[in-house]
Amino acid sequence: MNSRPGRLGVGIVGAGRVGAVLASALRATGHAVVGASGASEETRERIEVLLPNVPVLDVRDVVERSELVLLTVPDDVLGDLVAGLARLGAFQPGQLVVHTAGRYGVDVLAPARARGAIPLAIHPAMTFTGTSVDLSRMDGLPFAVTADPPVLPIAQALVVELGGEPIVLPEEARPLYHAALAHGANHLVTLTSQAMRVLTAAGVSDAGTLLTPLLSAALDGALRGGEVTLTGPVARGDSGTVAEHLTALAGIVAADPALVDVPETYVALARATVQRALAGRRISEPAATRLLDVLDPVTDPATDHEVESGGPEVVRTVAQLRQRRESWNEPVAVVMTMGALHEGHLELVRVARTLAPRVIVTIFVNPLQFGAGEDLAAYPRTLDADVEALGREGVDLVFAPPESEMYPDGAPQVTMTAGHMGEVLEGADRPGHFDGMLTVVAKLLHLTRADIAMFGQKDAQQLALVRRMVSDQNIPVRIEAVPIVREPDGLAMSSRNAYLDEAERTAALVLSQAVAAGAQAAADGGTVDDVLAAAQRILDERDRDLVRPSYLELVDEHTMTAWGERHPGGRSPSRALLVVAARVGATRLIDNAVVSWPLQEEAR
Ligand code: PAJ
Repeated sequence: MNSRPGRLGVGIVGAGRVGAVLASALRATGHAVVGASGASEETRERIEVLLPNVPVLDVRDVVERSELVLLTVPDDVLGDLVAGLARLGAFQPGQLVVHTAGRYGVDVLAPARARGAIPLAIHPAMTFTGTSVDLSRMDGLPFAVTADPPVLPIAQALVVELGGEPIVLPEEARPLYHAALAHGANHLVTLTSQAMRVLTAAGVSDAGTLLTPLLSAALDGALRGGEVTLTGPVARGDSGTVAEHLTALAGIVAADPALVDVPETYVALARATVQRALAGRRISEPAATRLLDVLDPVTDPATDHEVESGGPEVVRTVAQLRQRRESWNEPVAVVMTMGALHEGHLELVRVARTLAPRVIVTIFVNPLQFGAGEDLAAYPRTLDADVEALGREGVDLVFAPPESEMYPDGAPQVTMTAGHMGEVLEGADRPGHFDGMLTVVAKLLHLTRADIAMFGQKDAQQLALVRRMVSDQNIPVRIEAVPIVREPDGLAMSSRNAYLDEAERTAALVLSQAVAAGAQAAADGGTVDDVLAAAQRILDERDRDLVRPSYLELVDEHTMTAWGERHPGGRSPSRALLVVAARVGATRLIDNAVVSWPLQEEAR
């Protein structure tokens, strides 16, 4: 097939901004424009200016008289228009039918193709003004071109005639192509205008002049070098500055509600920027976590005690927490958590509600208690769902601080030390973990000034250490322990269970089964050795590919010393704790059971 269109009679349906300009460009290359349709006054004026002496006809006449029909109507009417014209029999065999809608390929022209016409899709990747200025911009302008393979050269030649640069796109790539263009170009306009509005609100009289060099350089850099050209607080991992921005933006919205769209756009784009900076290794995972903490959208640090509709009040800053706490005279219970709440956490909340009229829940993934190589960045963060669940439990206040609120100067200088009790069992595998845990628990006790603090028996060593700290440091709080909440099959609930795949989830059951077997051996009158042996027997049946035990010990529940060390003679205690830990796949899990002997054992 000859790919050169030759001299053609061109008709334009919908001589809007794009149609009139393209027809004018085709006319300049020697084609004859035989007619244009256009209903509005504006369109007729445009035809007069850009296409002098071209007759204005109705749509059907335009199509019937032309060898090349340019359909330049709005995207959402194109399909119906083509179907209607086909029904009227307006299309002719061999006629070129061209549309310029970005989101469509040639399938939308199927009714014309069925009449023997040649469907072509060409989309100039530019916004048009509808004036002769556009004509001068056609040189080298990229056009997305989609056509059936045999006629693709015709579409390409047409674009070249217009002065453009054809870029061939398959039919199925069109929606993505169009989404990318709209996202890049249209949203850039929104973003730029937001920056201008904020500058104006800050008192800058000519925001455009101020922004032009910076924005032009940013765009130029992004187009040339991609994300390596990124600068600013996110790329530097500067969460303090980002937090300040959010505060300032919230302040300006309070003064001018019309700017309400700005903070949420800022947060959305900053979150995306964090992900890109992390992927490009511009910032570390801990820095990304700190930034994402600051950007968490549940509440805004600057707004006063934002109340979720129907849910608990959520505060993010120490100042807000203090203010709230000071307004209460009645006793307060606190439940400290790292979020990703499950029934175990909620049980602590329920017990707390029976013990005190006010309940505060803290949600903070405390970096101090995670070692290098542990799961700090991956730790599940589900704040929205957590707040919703806490709303159902009637919690009064949720304190969910970003890291910058808890540790404004980075890692604290003066910290708690767990001592020997923090170096055994969990502490042996996780050096520094309990120091970091106690440091944050002490801070949260001071901040909440709680009368009662709830801790789960699940983390028995943590519970023992918190009790010891409170006693050693004379912290005025009552510590309440809550028994382990388990899944129906016995697995102790844990936020980390979310990491387990199906096989690991099944394999993990040996932990709860082992401590249960040990407890049963004691109830049956067995010795300390019998208890350990019964638990070990279950552990020995584990899936050895998936479960790597770390320890299995019978310990004093207050000191965490192994029972054998305290009682070298092997005498049975009246009560002890059987503790176990293992790595299941890559996930570290712990469990324990209280083991008690019939009373006469003590007298033996
Ligand atoms: P986290 O693991 O979120 O646990 C918060 C509280 O819930 C702890 O007291 C824990 O023992 C309790 N808990 C977790 N699973 C439980 C279960 N299945 N049954 C009963 N209680 C359960 O422990 C921490 O966070 C942190 O170390 C913290 C104390 C918040 C300090 O950062």
